[in-house]
Amino acid sequence: MPGITVTPVEKIVQRVQEIVDSGIPSVIVFGIPKTRDRTGLSASDRKGVVQRAVKTIKSGFGSSINVVTDVCVCQYNLSGHCGIVSKDKVDNDATLRALAEIAASHAEAGADVVAPSSMMDGQVRAIKRAFGDRGLTAMILSYSAKHASSLYTPFRSAAYARARSHLDKSSYQVSYANPRQVLLEIDTDINEGADMVMIKPALVYLDLVRMVKDKFSYPIAVQNVSGEYAMIKAASTSGLIDEEEWKVCSIASIKRAGADRIISYFALEVSKYL
Ligand code: PBG
Ligand code: ZN
Repeated sequence: MPGITVTPVEKIVQRVQEIVDSGIPSVIVFGIPKTRDRTGLSASDRKGVVQRAVKTIKSGFGSSINVVTDVCVCQYNLSGHCGIVSKDKVDNDATLRALAEIAASHAEAGADVVAPSSMMDGQVRAIKRAFGDRGLTAMILSYSAKHASSLYTPFRSAAYARARSHLDKSSYQVSYANPRQVLLEIDTDINEGADMVMIKPALVYLDLVRMVKDKFSYPIAVQNVSGEYAMIKAASTSGLIDEEEWKVCSIASIKRAGADRIISYFALEVSKYL
């Protein structure tokens, strides 16, 4: 993606300084490990890339930035699926144990918020229980309504083993045709104890953001995903649309729809216009 780079842990202080200086209150960390295996369980390694990054950020910046971590196995395994795969199926319950361990390792490293993104049933409850057992207090932002979408393709091409960009995750991610499922997923995650819920992608799902905001009046985060960033970059680079206008208007539309938090690859760029 033009303008987006992977930040090595050695350069993270410099990068986060830019974010703090721009007035942005939070950063979300996605890990890209050096090695991957069949299960992806190394995501909970206490010396893993996310755990080291979180420690570095928190010791350098303390409470001047909130650190959110993405909790999943798909960047750490070879399949690219968001779960432990056994016999060609994603094993929900085995994955819950892995997610709880990963989230705990992030919280121990100092994360303010953990964000389970695998869409496994029971992910919030499993993490909540692990936190209770170990006295951890990080908040939970659940990727509650994550739609199956080709809009994740640029992210996957950058983050996954080999070219796993066209994976079918429709057995655990939500269909665009199923808004009732979205309400159910949100309701379940709130009942399991999520502190915030997420809807993603953003732009073609804003009706659902408004619906969820009105129905639950609960803190909502919306993720403006890689394909949404890439479309604006590609169209403006070809001279077809005005880049600044589209970045500002898309962020504004997410806000109007009812998002309390917006996660976007445009965050730093847009902060300069506001
Ligand atoms: C994986 C994950 C994905 C994204 C965030 N976490 C990709 C997927 O579900 O395959 C998408 C992010 C983006 O496209 O910006 N758990
Ligand atoms: Zn995943």
